[in-house]
Amino acid sequence: MVKPQSSTLPVIAIDGPAASGKSTTARMVAKALGFRQADSGSLYRAVAASQIRLAGDNAKWSAASLLDAARSVTIEPVVGVFAVRVDGEDAEAELRSAAVTAHVSLVASIPQVRTWVNTRMRDCAKAGPIVVDGRDMGTAVFPDAVLKVWLIALTGERARRRSVELLGRDPSAEELAREAAELVARDTKDATQTKPAADAVHIDTTTLTRDEQVAQIVALARERMRA
Ligand code: DC
Repeated sequence: MVKPQSSTLPVIAIDGPAASGKSTTARMVAKALGFRQADSGSLYRAVAASQIRLAGDNAKWSAASLLDAARSVTIEPVVGVFAVRVDGEDAEAELRSAAVTAHVSLVASIPQVRTWVNTRMRDCAKAGPIVVDGRDMGTAVFPDAVLKVWLIALTGERARRRSVELLGRDPSAEELAREAAELVARDTKDATQTKPAADAVHIDTTTLTRDEQVAQIVALARERMRA
């Protein structure tokens, strides 16, 4: 259980479309600031993974079955991050599997699951200063975040980065085109909740290195926290 401390601890919200580098960036920003990071996308993925463990991926999923599956999902503070677990296990590879990726947009479209995830994320923020990432952290979940970042990159670059991450090498033109088409399809499915807050700082990372984008966000966060 996460222990609440205060409701006014700083929150930095990093949102953006699929494969825009949110989670890695959020983790690096958290490390630089001495905060913890919590990834809301991992919670949606964990609910999908738990439901697949319980009922297979062909079963008919409902809000009730997903909330039941969510009972096996926990998010616990460890060094630098909140770790998401399924049945008490670190299930990172499973969370990134093709089966989970194929079902997670459906899971994330269920309002009751969104409420469950948002409550977990707010609990994490009560435990200490935090960098959160997802799609709607700066809009629906933490409208008072000290800094909101909207991270974007051109589709071709997002597809290249995701392919390198998945394959461990540069992709062929065909692999790249397939990944780009998948990203566009996921962006379309997740479009309802994938919107920048009106007061978000937009950062296009297409031509930035990870270190450059992290440095920009850390500088902005320090500026806002001093103000
Ligand atoms: O960022 P990701 O690929 O791990 O996100 C997994 C899914 O969860 C994706 O379909 C978008 C959805 N999601 C969401 O709807 N809201 C969030 N705050 C985070 C993720």
